[in-house]
Amino acid sequence: MSEWFAVENAGEVPSPALLLYPERIRENIRRMIRMAGGGQRLRPHVKTHKLAEVVRMQLEEGLIKFKCATIAEAEMTAGAGAKDVLLAYPIVGPNVGRLLELVRTFPATQFSCVADTASAIQQLAKTFSAAGREVEVLLDVDCGQHRTGVAPDADALRLYRLIANSPALRPGGLHVYDGHIHQSALAERETDCAADFAPVLEFHRALLAAGLPVPRVVAGGTPTFPIHARNPAFECSPGTCVLWDFDYAELFAELDFLMAAVMLTRVVSKPGPNRLCLDLGHKAIASEKPPPRVKFLNLPDATAISHNEEHLVVESAGASRLAVGDCLYGVPRHICPTVALYSEATVIRQGRASERWRITARERRLTI
Ligand SMILES: Cc1ncc(COP(=O)(O)O)c(C=O)c1O
Repeated sequence: MSEWFAVENAGEVPSPALLLYPERIRENIRRMIRMAGGGQRLRPHVKTHKLAEVVRMQLEEGLIKFKCATIAEAEMTAGAGAKDVLLAYPIVGPNVGRLLELVRTFPATQFSCVADTASAIQQLAKTFSAAGREVEVLLDVDCGQHRTGVAPDADALRLYRLIANSPALRPGGLHVYDGHIHQSALAERETDCAADFAPVLEFHRALLAAGLPVPRVVAGGTPTFPIHARNPAFECSPGTCVLWDFDYAELFAELDFLMAAVMLTRVVSKPGPNRLCLDLGHKAIASEKPPPRVKFLNLPDATAISHNEEHLVVESAGASRLAVGDCLYGVPRHICPTVALYSEATVIRQGRASERWRITARERRLTI
């Protein structure tokens, strides 16, 4: 029996390549749904995979809501048939007009976006009311990451009221991303989450007490998914767990997802004893984090020596067993930016490379 990741017809796959395993992706989607207690509570982020095929698999499994970071991701997601798409990124400048174009192009999809400034809210209201269209706006709340969003205080209440009172805007609730909570121990994440979300819950109550509608609270990514999944008032928006990577697998031992994306690379040179040069440079695997940036499933002791644009040099006691042209299979440390480096992925079915999927939303602009 060969290993799950091995590709029988690897000789037909040029390297470096991003391999995707659809059966494993589907199993991860099912595990996400089980964790959330049903598809209604899930709004997975598409930025991890950027693929229409994965959105369609999620729709087949009963998911209806999606989160995106770019207009291109939103266009890809709506084009794949999604009926509820949240753009969880501040929409400013020409992107306001592009959002309006999205709303016009996909009348069967309900789009929403986030905002955290009065000027951005006013710009959205102006553009949409001039066009005779409406859009739902969620207030982006900062619970401690200090990246975007406003503190859940009296000013935030005024901003939410501004959304509610603006022509063409509907208040869509709160968006609260907590990417700063990523300790390895679940108990520590629980403690921080309880502390950081207490003011959010209080703010939520204040909005309701003020008679303002709060249709949803969209919270978190993968690290706090097991925690927010327990709160029936929250929608959960994990992204990474659909493909998984070794960073999260090592950090969050309690999360049980399958590796569903693998890098195929080849030995291109043997520059010294125990050394291999692989075609897996910065341009083929995300490199914003320190080495190791890849873990080889069939050469686990490989250690990175140097990394350039197109080359990765590793050392391994097993290097002598490998010849120039031999394949290595590795899981990336960070899958989301790795996917974005590829224009297409090779799909592995029953151990064989079959069709290729276009990573559609890696582009900054599709048609809009
Ligand atoms: C706003 C937002 N929501 C959700 C996610 C998904 O998080 P994760 O990759 O941990 O699943 C991210 C990740 O960057 C994000 O920025």
